[in-house]
Amino acid sequence: MTAPPPTTLKTERLLLRRAVEADLTALHEIMADAQTMRFWSTPPHADLDTTRQWLASMIGAPASTSDDFIIDLDGVAIGKLGAWRLPEIGFLLARRHWGRGYAGEALAAFVAHAFSGEVGFLIADVDPRNTACLALLSRAGFRETGRALNTWQVGEAWCDSVYLRLDRPPA
Ligand SMILES: CC(C)(COP(=O)(O)OP(=O)(O)OC[C@H]1O[C@@H](n2cnc3c(N)ncnc32)[C@H](O)[C@@H]1OP(=O)(O)O)[C@@H](O)C(=O)NCCC(=O)NCCS
Repeated sequence: MTAPPPTTLKTERLLLRRAVEADLTALHEIMADAQTMRFWSTPPHADLDTTRQWLASMIGAPASTSDDFIIDLDGVAIGKLGAWRLPEIGFLLARRHWGRGYAGEALAAFVAHAFSGEVGFLIADVDPRNTACLALLSRAGFRETGRALNTWQVGEAWCDSVYLRLDRPPA
């Protein structure tokens, strides 16, 4: 018996698909950018090997606990969005593509996909200074459930967290 084809999600402008090794260069360009990584849980990737390891953990994450996607625009990886470990979502987009609604479009597709399966709720952990991310999640219906101080050490600096949650709408 052959395995079912991997899940893909189509939106008006984007394809959400599983990560492959060929995404390395495009992802490294995104994850080496200090501004894009300003509120990520790790410093910008200093070398290709750091991104290679990160990509390997995305590709190798078990389907029972992970549901993560590459955001693909016209055949090129421009970001990632999904849950490396359900139910927590994480995403980033190449800086040159910010401000065009791509992240919102991808998030709406992912939420619909997640809630069409077993997932009853999604959560996010966001740096309170990350206004673009908070606005995106708020537009998608996520609501704040709490805050905490000094939750992440990234390089030398400690960061805080806003916790958000989106429940699956009642059937
Ligand atoms: C968080 C992040 C993905 C948001 O990207 P984004 O492009 O701002 O998000 P959206 O896709 O929702 O786009 C919304 C913007 O596009 C504009 N826009 C343009 N065309 C649009 C369209 N067709 N539909 C919707 N919005 C559109 C909106 O007006 C809005 O602009 P504004 O931010 O000036 O108000 C991006 O800032 C990022 O990658 N940040 C770094 C990584 C990060 O911090 N990730 C979160 C950690 S979990």
